[in-house]
Amino acid sequence: MAEPTRPPAALRGEVSTPASTRPATSEAPASSAGASPGAGHPWTAAVDERSRIIRAQGRWRAPRRFDPAPANDGSGWLADDGRRVVDFASNDYLGLARHPQVVASACEATEQLGTGSGASRLVSGSRSLHHRLEAALAGWKHTEAAVVFPTGFAANLGVLATFGERGVLLCSDELNHASIIDGARLARAEVAVYRHGDVDHLDRVASGWPGRVLVVSDLVFSMDGDLAPVAELAGWCRRRQALLVLDEAHAVLGPDVGPLLQEVEAIRVGTLSKTLGALGGFAATSRRFAELLVNQARPYIFTTAPTPASAAAAVAALDIVTSAEGDQLRARLSSHIEQVAPGHPTPIVPVVLGAEAAAVAASEQLLAEGIWVPAIRPPTVPAGTARLRVTLSAAHRAADLQRLAAALAALRPAEAGR
Ligand SMILES: Cc1ncc(COP(=O)(O)O)c(C=O)c1O
Repeated sequence: MAEPTRPPAALRGEVSTPASTRPATSEAPASSAGASPGAGHPWTAAVDERSRIIRAQGRWRAPRRFDPAPANDGSGWLADDGRRVVDFASNDYLGLARHPQVVASACEATEQLGTGSGASRLVSGSRSLHHRLEAALAGWKHTEAAVVFPTGFAANLGVLATFGERGVLLCSDELNHASIIDGARLARAEVAVYRHGDVDHLDRVASGWPGRVLVVSDLVFSMDGDLAPVAELAGWCRRRQALLVLDEAHAVLGPDVGPLLQEVEAIRVGTLSKTLGALGGFAATSRRFAELLVNQARPYIFTTAPTPASAAAAVAALDIVTSAEGDQLRARLSSHIEQVAPGHPTPIVPVVLGAEAAAVAASEQLLAEGIWVPAIRPPTVPAGTARLRVTLSAAHRAADLQRLAAALAALRPAEAGR
């Protein structure tokens, strides 16, 4: 069947708003806006001032509405102006969010169990499906147990607040994800930040600490797509008897860290929302650590259990990831990386341009060519390292990858000359 040239009517927004006037949130019709006290109210003034500062910094952002096309190839429409673009921003690395088996499992679970789980896991929200998912995740990561959270973000908050108790030194890589930074803020532990990937510096910041140490690191760093020095981190934690928390959210292509973690107390945090195309997070670890999370992690205890659809989608996606089809999808993703950034270890490809304006202009230029690559700016990345962040998927088509590679090659002189 020929591809429609417009998004299905059900996916089209009612109102088309020019990008320049787009609100930062989706707004209700004006008639239902309620009676805000408006100007003169201290909260209105404070919010207006903060917004003014962000705008003055040129950092005001708003979500773009993007409606994926039926073909599972990363293409779709920007709803604001109907432009057809290819999405090189999603973390659906294997294209499983649209895989027929995954979609069918989510639909079936919804029909059988409903749209919501109704309560937290410790109240009445725990379904056999959640337990099946946790067993499958533990099998995937070769751990004794796994605990599912509503998101990967919540998993990091739960793990770090639970194990980063008073008296612990929590050592965090300086380029760790925001959810790790916030988890460290929530923890009662003393926090020490070590230089990116620098185990000697980790050793220095932890030296002299008399108590227990927790080390936390992204495995694949989300803005640079580089890898943590896992073997050295694991060796350090083994010698120091420290707890190692690895965030494997983007580790769709590995590395397989299991063998490196022998004799190390470790927690492998992950997400259901990237490689597995669903929504949720998890911590895979030993049974005693998992059981303590169930009893102490507030983002597990005081929140509603993941939906049946999310859990079923993740179970189905895991079946695929661990099958021969999963091997084929990873091989395809690897070949896409080779095509766009030969030798790069992960599907996150940064094109660092330095100045924020340069990154924004490059992103707009690519968008005009139908290539959607977001500009990432401070504070998400350090000042002076604004960049394009390309993410590749096994679902992308060869022709679109060629267009992307050509467009990036045209930008690379700017990258080299910054
Ligand atoms: C390294 C890392 N950890 C955790 C998360 C949070 O995962 P989730 O999107 O499932 O909340 C992300 C998401 O962007 C991430 O990049």
